[in-house]
Amino acid sequence: MQTIKVKTKSRPSTVYCGEGAVKKLEELLDGKDIFVVTDTNVYRLYEDFIRSTFPHSPVFAVPAGERHKTPHTLFSILDQMLQARLRRNCWLVALGGGVVGDMGGLAASLYMRGIPAVQVPTTLLAQVDSSVGGKTAVDYRGVKNVIGAFYQPEYVFCDPMFLKTLPAREIRCGLGEIVKTGALEGTIFDQLEKNADRLADFAFLEEITAACVRFKAGIVEKDECERSGLRKCLNMGHTTGHALELFYGRRSHGEYVLIGMFFESCIAERIGICAADYARRLRTLIGRVVKKLPRFENIGEAARTALYDKKNEKKNEVSLILPRSQGAYAEAKLSIEEYIGLIEDINGGNL
Ligand code: NAD
Ligand code: GLY
Repeated sequence: MQTIKVKTKSRPSTVYCGEGAVKKLEELLDGKDIFVVTDTNVYRLYEDFIRSTFPHSPVFAVPAGERHKTPHTLFSILDQMLQARLRRNCWLVALGGGVVGDMGGLAASLYMRGIPAVQVPTTLLAQVDSSVGGKTAVDYRGVKNVIGAFYQPEYVFCDPMFLKTLPAREIRCGLGEIVKTGALEGTIFDQLEKNADRLADFAFLEEITAACVRFKAGIVEKDECERSGLRKCLNMGHTTGHALELFYGRRSHGEYVLIGMFFESCIAERIGICAADYARRLRTLIGRVVKKLPRFENIGEAARTALYDKKNEKKNEVSLILPRSQGAYAEAKLSIEEYIGLIEDINGGNL
């Protein structure tokens, strides 16, 4: 197990990554007042674990899935916390995927103006990305993560034992954020290319999870609240990914990140930011995770929703974090017309 410190100004976090993280959780949370938030799927699979690890704690399972990442569900969590008469010294444990982590973290930031939060990510995506760095949020009126807060957890426990029950599709979603990290960090990119035949092997995932967390920790320490612009890089593939995710639904966040990476690597190549050879290597890696890309209907309309992206600075401009070369990226700002034109042109292309 690796211990990774995230030395953020508001509150430092410690991430325990690897086999045995859950034992560490038992040790560190022993004797604390705990409120557990999970979702119905995770509760069904891990009821015995939750009940034996937190025998005296109230447990609240929210309905699973992105469509429940709403103010309504957030307030149902706060309602349960109030009904359980939690005091300020109580700790909230968010045990689940990124949806539970984002909403649980936000509830912790709001209840009595903030109680300590702990993340126990149970999906690959949440382990490599969402549980670390303190971004918490819910979606509202069709805009992803538009209501939220930066609120660092005290601890994050990334234990690979949870990955054993994950469907293959959810492993692919986590690989979406892993490939994104590889596009930002050259050594991780090399590791991914070298292990392209065993991307879903548990031993490899354990190793790469710690590398991704370490990379993200370094970025978050330097730009905790996305003020200097550095943290924006973690959004590569997300401008297009988020727009398609909210317009079409059906697939999940990680899959849309991969699809967004495909579109954005093509854009980077077409507007001359990225050399064709590197853009192709990136798409080959994406192709190791998703075999075939869909052709989207009405993609121009979907692409227009990228105007809601939080990175944008002007009304009719879309900001994109694009791959440039191995380990390097560049921010591009395109007019909405140019962006839609490129997306329509790339739609239906092969990996
Ligand atoms: P999710 O939380 O919806 O989990 C995916 C599915 O897996 C759900 O059905 C869940 O019930 C199930 N599940 C969870 N753990 C399981 C397990 N161990 N075994 C079997 N099934 C399990 O989705 P996700 O992909 O984990 O997270 C996506 C969310 O994360 C999105 O809302 C996205 O916006 C957010 N996100 C946030 C950040 C951040 O920095 N805060 C970063 C990336 C993504
Ligand atoms: N996942 C994007 C971020 O944490 O900034």
